[in-house]
Amino acid sequence: MEYQLQVNMGDILQCLSKAQSILSPQVGQHQLKVAYLAYRLAEELAFSTEERKKIFLAALVHDIGALSMKEKLELVDGRSKDTQTHALRGALLVRDFGPLQCTVPLIRCHHVAWANGAGSNWQGQPVPRGAHLLHLADSMCIRLPAQRNVLSQLPGTFAEMQAMSGSEFVPQQVAALENLIRKEYIWFDLAATNPLDRLPQWLMPVVGLSVDDMVRLAEIISHLIDFGSEFTSRHSAGVAKVAEHLASLSGFSADGCKKMLIAGYLHDLGKLAVNNAILEKDAALNTTEFNEVRAHTYYTYYLLDSIPEFGEIKQWAAYHHERLDGTGYPFHINGDFLPLGSRIMAVADTFTAIAEDRPYRKGVEANKTVDILRNMARRQVLDERLVELLIKNYETIDMLRQAAQRGAVRYYEDFFSSVKQADAE
Ligand SMILES: [Fe+2]
Ligand SMILES: [Fe+2]
Ligand SMILES: [Fe+2]
Repeated sequence: MEYQLQVNMGDILQCLSKAQSILSPQVGQHQLKVAYLAYRLAEELAFSTEERKKIFLAALVHDIGALSMKEKLELVDGRSKDTQTHALRGALLVRDFGPLQCTVPLIRCHHVAWANGAGSNWQGQPVPRGAHLLHLADSMCIRLPAQRNVLSQLPGTFAEMQAMSGSEFVPQQVAALENLIRKEYIWFDLAATNPLDRLPQWLMPVVGLSVDDMVRLAEIISHLIDFGSEFTSRHSAGVAKVAEHLASLSGFSADGCKKMLIAGYLHDLGKLAVNNAILEKDAALNTTEFNEVRAHTYYTYYLLDSIPEFGEIKQWAAYHHERLDGTGYPFHINGDFLPLGSRIMAVADTFTAIAEDRPYRKGVEANKTVDILRNMARRQVLDERLVELLIKNYETIDMLRQAAQRGAVRYYEDFFSSVKQADAE
């Protein structure tokens, strides 16, 4: 039987929202709120359990295609003029990931107006009713930002929504919303920091992911981390591949190597919580900026901490700036306590960062890279045995790194060119 990592996909998607909450609580909580409300609406409309689950998952990632914080803020503020691009990008991002494939039409169409029935088809495709439901839940959450005194705002907000019944929203679904308006607990739930905590556990759809599914999902998340610019678009792909290979050379089991690959894709997850302008800066950082960057591994740890099955992956991913002599950050864990997986990640991250092209310089050549790594091993920054293992297999490892990074750049280019193409059509 295939080994299941049995991770609740809901937990992982929530973890992404939490990452965004650190920069903007409004943005981070938006998807959680929409997921809660869409779920309750689907329940009110007596949709099947399967369909509720699908709508819930789609809602949790509906704005995943909004890549910059600016774009996200405009969407949750209702100021966005172009609502289709992020919907298309979102659909492209999850398209090849089996467990989320069923959500693609919902994500793609979550801003399609009902238009008195004409909206049941769009661009030659049928629009699922779940997509219209998502649109309704999304718009309601955008119009109801208040955390306090939510009940007093309901009549006015609902009147605005009702005025768009038929034109923007499906009348039957607006009627279901009206039924929910009478139930106070729904709106108190929605105002909670994490409304999903208010769904009883047995209601929360659990989707078990296999290790391979998890690898795929981690790769998709790595695109979100790295997509800020073409130069960073390949970093995590390189680190993941190098770490996986070093793990296999160090005798990790096949599953262990895949877990290392996942950890590699997610090692910079905390960067989602760091201001993009600093991460993209192509010059030396000042102290204030560097202090902000230092937070990224702390957030990687804290974000992965909410996924109970990720104990090891979390340590391997989040300790990549710790040093054997205890002078790394943020936990100052020294060589006596640093797990082998974390040391591997530190070597893979350092090697990749040196060898890859950067916006302000070309990648460092092999001889010099070897010198730098050996020097770091001597200074107790990196594990000497692992550094020598990498050097011994330099050619293979560098080839794997380059292939993985070329793949990531290709993905980046294809992704943005298909968005452009669809725009032109
Ligand atoms: Fe949206
Ligand atoms: Fe890092
Ligand atoms: Fe990194």
